[in-house]
Amino acid sequence: MDYETISVAPIAGGLGAEVGGVDLSRDLPNATIGEIRAALLEHLVIFFRDQHLTPEQHLALGRRFGALQVHDFVEAMAGYPEILEVRKEPEETRNFGGGWHTDVSYLERPSLGSLLYALEVPAYGGDTLFANQYLAYETLSPGMQRMLDGITAIHSARRPYGVNSARAQEYGPSSMRFNFSQKAHDEIEHPVVRTHGETGRKALYVNRTFTIRFKDMTEAESAPLLHYLCDHAVRPEFTCRFRWRANSLAFWDNRAVQHNAVNDYHGQRRVMHRVTIEGERPA
Ligand code: SIN
Repeated sequence: MDYETISVAPIAGGLGAEVGGVDLSRDLPNATIGEIRAALLEHLVIFFRDQHLTPEQHLALGRRFGALQVHDFVEAMAGYPEILEVRKEPEETRNFGGGWHTDVSYLERPSLGSLLYALEVPAYGGDTLFANQYLAYETLSPGMQRMLDGITAIHSARRPYGVNSARAQEYGPSSMRFNFSQKAHDEIEHPVVRTHGETGRKALYVNRTFTIRFKDMTEAESAPLLHYLCDHAVRPEFTCRFRWRANSLAFWDNRAVQHNAVNDYHGQRRVMHRVTIEGERPA
């Protein structure tokens, strides 16, 4: 696709492009927002360098793409309910978002997309991985595709945010505040293969963090196929890796992408702000 108001340069074969020629702190014309949306649909995750955003500007940018979500289980940044501060301090060992997932897939209406802005990054490490879930679906055999087209999966937030979650049991230092609760044990049904509301393409929609089993099956019965699909979904050729710098912003499409925050920077600080856009019920 040709772009008139922005430059778009792919960074990998599977997905991901760096977008230039735009200052995200400004109230951008509709034509530019339209091209950013088009680049997101074409490349699934887009990256912007050297942006200088206040929390208000970050929120205003997110709102150009839809209503914003408030996280049910992570305390927001003080004074900004729609900003989730993703923080890891030098003395902490756990990170947030480490492990492949799509954001809040345990909700009836999971997020359309997320805009993550880097305030402080480690000297090395702390990259984020992304994986293209159209490719994950399209590279399955026709027989497997036919079978999955009719299957429903159960998603829940109970592994990371349930009352018995590993993080809830742990007493290590944590600069992020979590609301571990019974509500995290709620279950929601989503199709294993979803059709993207804007592109019409089919994407695999299961992830290791929130998908717990297939409908009408036990966890033990579901595990072999679920493990296979979760491994397949993140094959290296479906992925890209983003090396953060302070003032970079990543915008990914949760309808067709999984991501994973690499936890390889113990002893260093990493601080990001995440804004999440409300999506539709997967179909
Ligand atoms: C997230 O899962 O939203 C966090 C990603 C990251 O910190 O790289």
